[in-house]
Amino acid sequence: MQRPTPTDVEREVSNVDMIVSKGDAEGRITYINPIFVKISGYTQGELMEQPHSILRHPDMPKVIFKYLWDNIKEGRDVVAYVKNLCKDGSYYWVLATVKMAKNPDGSFRNYMSTRRRVNDHAKETIKALYAKLLKIEKEEGVEASQKAFDAFLAEQGITDSESFNAYMQNLNK
Ligand SMILES: Cc1cc2nc3c(=O)[nH]c(=O)nc-3n(C[C@H](O)[C@H](O)[C@H](O)COP(=O)(O)O)c2cc1C
Repeated sequence: MQRPTPTDVEREVSNVDMIVSKGDAEGRITYINPIFVKISGYTQGELMEQPHSILRHPDMPKVIFKYLWDNIKEGRDVVAYVKNLCKDGSYYWVLATVKMAKNPDGSFRNYMSTRRRVNDHAKETIKALYAKLLKIEKEEGVEASQKAFDAFLAEQGITDSESFNAYMQNLNK
């Protein structure tokens, strides 16, 4: 499938929307709820078994997804802001909570993401952060972007995944 060309059209996520998906160990989509399908602009058939990166927007810095995977693989929940790309090139912002679910015997079951609306204040703060990280990524590389991300976390007093999640959740209050 061809990658959509991003446009400046933003799609509204309402206060009551819960955009849910589940994925396998590699992040391929195994479940999506009707709101996920609707906002994405794809059909359910086009999304199932595709990697979640089908939604990846070029404005998203790589280090955010690295942070996501480094933590969820270890079973630590991640709360993070994501700008997602729709089939028609439009986009929507969400605050995603991504978790690993385990079977009763402790083995890996799946990953699950629940996404909700982002308020304007959080959006402006995160837009500025991501734009800065992406600029550094493009001009100086991923390592330099990682350093800038680490510096941002240190400035905010974020020392572990719990304080990271608390910071992200507080921004959206
Ligand atoms: C349950 C789950 C949900 C995800 N949801 C999204 C999402 O909504 N948007 C997105 O761009 N990446 C999402 N990802 C991350 C993707 O797997 C991927 O790391 C990301 O799109 C970056 O793509 P890349 O690693 O190919 O550059 C999700 C991963 C998991 C496990």
